[in-house]
Amino acid sequence: MIGKSETLAVLGTGTMGEAILRGLLRAGKLEASQIIGTDRRAEVTRAIHEKHGIRTTSDNREAAAAAQIVLLCVKPHEVEPLVTDPAVGAALAGKLVVSIAAGVRLDQLAAWLPNSAVVRAMPNTPCLIGEGMTVIARGPRVTDAQAATAIEVFQSVGGCLEAEDKVMDAVTSLNGSGPAFAYIMIEALTDGGVRMGLRRDTAMQIAAQMVQGAARMVLQTGMHPAALKDQVTTPAGSTIAGLLIMEDGRIRSVIARAVEEAAKTAAKLGQQKPSEK
Ligand SMILES: NC(=O)c1ccc[n+]([C@@H]2O[C@H](COP(=O)([O-])OP(=O)(O)OC[C@H]3O[C@@H](n4cnc5c(N)ncnc54)[C@H](OP(=O)(O)O)[C@@H]3O)[C@@H](O)[C@H]2O)c1
Repeated sequence: MIGKSETLAVLGTGTMGEAILRGLLRAGKLEASQIIGTDRRAEVTRAIHEKHGIRTTSDNREAAAAAQIVLLCVKPHEVEPLVTDPAVGAALAGKLVVSIAAGVRLDQLAAWLPNSAVVRAMPNTPCLIGEGMTVIARGPRVTDAQAATAIEVFQSVGGCLEAEDKVMDAVTSLNGSGPAFAYIMIEALTDGGVRMGLRRDTAMQIAAQMVQGAARMVLQTGMHPAALKDQVTTPAGSTIAGLLIMEDGRIRSVIARAVEEAAKTAAKLGQQKPSEK
């Protein structure tokens, strides 16, 4: 649990950093006075302070020194130069440090921060509306209480579960890239509706709400998706006619292989130099 006297630092208040701090404030997990955010550009720190009322600075060492929990929300290739800065590294010693950088492995984080308790986390963009999913993997020096704190942070912007570091590239693909795969499906379903005479805005609203409902059915009933699909599929009906077209297009292997390919690419993300990007 995050204590009332504790401070959380968000290093890099870009898209994801801001989403997480906003979620923490909205959920009432932390007061604005308990969060300190950093960014490279003064206009960003000023805007974040004005919008959320938190303390901001461009000095990562100052923010790390003031906090007990530190979120690293910079781009993957920016993590190493940030945390291996001797002043920042010293300020992070003895603290819980959570990286959300895609492809940056726990062993790298632990080597760069030998005196910190490091956690690797992979959130996704629906965190921006409090409907995200995050998976965390804990490093060797992380206590159960610290892992619970990391989970609590991400539960303020959606669901969160813990896994082993070795599956985090798969998680990066399924969870981090997954929204893009889902958007493609919503767009294609919408096109189908338009093809059959629906207005695009109507078709899109139906498709998105329908996909949300189907996802909630899986989560709330705990039933296998195949069993739920069978419930919709009446003999000689329209659903089986559409399903067979999807099977002809090898839709299952296309989607599964997209997850595989994105995971392979994710594994390389944190290992690239900025010049290779
Ligand atoms: N977006 C996603 O879908 C998603 C999902 C899961 C995980 N992630 C991970 O989340 C991390 C952040 O992604 P994002 O999309 O939020 O990126 P972003 O919007 O570019 O945010 C990163 C912010 O960090 C700032 N920054 C860079 N170096 C800094 C430093 N040394 N000190 C302080 N601030 C610094 C950047 O400033 P400048 O703009 O001036 O460079 C920028 O404002 C990435 O590692 C990514 O892998 C992203």
